[in-house]
Amino acid sequence: MSTLPTVLIIGCGSIGERHLRTFKSTGRCHVIACDTRPAILAKMQETYQVEITTDWQPVLTRPEVEIVVICTPAPYHVPIATAVLKSGRHCLIEKPLALSLEGMDELTAAHAASGRACHVAYVNHSRPEPRAAKAFLAAGSFGPVRAATVVCGQNFPTYRPAYREIYYNNHAQGGGAIQDAITHVVNLLEWILGPTASLLCDAGHQVLDGVEVEDTVSVVARNQDGAIISYNLNQFQAPNEFTIQFNAAKGSVKIEYHQSRWGHLALGATEWTWETFPPLDRDGPFIIQANDFLDACTGQVTPMATLTEGIQAVKFNLACFESLRTGARATI
Ligand SMILES: NC(=O)c1ccc[n+]([C@@H]2O[C@H](COP(=O)([O-])OP(=O)(O)OC[C@H]3O[C@@H](n4cnc5c(N)ncnc54)[C@H](O)[C@@H]3O)[C@@H](O)[C@H]2O)c1
Repeated sequence: MSTLPTVLIIGCGSIGERHLRTFKSTGRCHVIACDTRPAILAKMQETYQVEITTDWQPVLTRPEVEIVVICTPAPYHVPIATAVLKSGRHCLIEKPLALSLEGMDELTAAHAASGRACHVAYVNHSRPEPRAAKAFLAAGSFGPVRAATVVCGQNFPTYRPAYREIYYNNHAQGGGAIQDAITHVVNLLEWILGPTASLLCDAGHQVLDGVEVEDTVSVVARNQDGAIISYNLNQFQAPNEFTIQFNAAKGSVKIEYHQSRWGHLALGATEWTWETFPPLDRDGPFIIQANDFLDACTGQVTPMATLTEGIQAVKFNLACFESLRTGARATI
């Protein structure tokens, strides 16, 4: 009998299928696919030759099922994760963790009592560029970051052609650029610079056909250390580009995903010093993430996003909506 743990993937839509494929590709686990839609399950069985089920609850009682990855739309993340942790299983939860703070205390308590790994699947933690930039900034030679800018965007219909038919079209299911897209970037900046204290948000539906949710977001934020951070994201622009710049008194650090590189430039220098990584395909960071999570399940410390960071990212989203409603700065 194999001693490899079994990973139960709950929800096998777009990201669930990717987790299924990438966890399987590690060779470190077996995988079971769960979805309420039989047609999706048939596709998982045919493509990946895995066991399938429409109901995760009975499967969760099986002893070999040690790990669960929750890939349903956001409103179901917290209740499922709480049940998973109470059953003593490790739990990886897709972003955003939730759309409100309901159930967070029970989830946090279930995690604390479980002694199991629980992380939020903010996949930027599994890319080499921010890992290297974060380590460089933490070493402190440029001093503390006092200002940062993020400029990013892509043509969402190119990368997610079904965007009109999925949760994305509805705020109440986790849709729109705030809950679905900029949350990745916010968590990345908070991972490196610490939590946001307050923000002012503007956002709107500018271009995307067939939906009314916002596809463009600008946020000016202050983190708890007083750094000023400017976020700019849209989901229709032609180039798929992502640039972050961190500015400190003695130098700046830049990350460019579209060039697979990060660099630094000390005050007085004229050229950036770059470190370029081999480009990752779309599964690449998810394979790193799957290995990280399997490591976390064996008690190793990993750079993955914590539950606390996931809750903080939900607070950021709620503050964005508050700021949009009131037109004023919102405090977290
Ligand atoms: N990390 C990333 O890069 C990334 C990318 C895409 C989506 N996501 C996040 O992942 C989540 C899912 O997104 P998606 O694009 O895969 O959505 P999707 O609509 O393609 O898939 C969700 C699946 O969950 C299934 N489901 C719903 N309730 C279920 C239940 N109780 N039991 C079993 N299956 C259930 C649905 O049938 C559907 O197949 C969202 O929170 C989204 O924000 C993350």
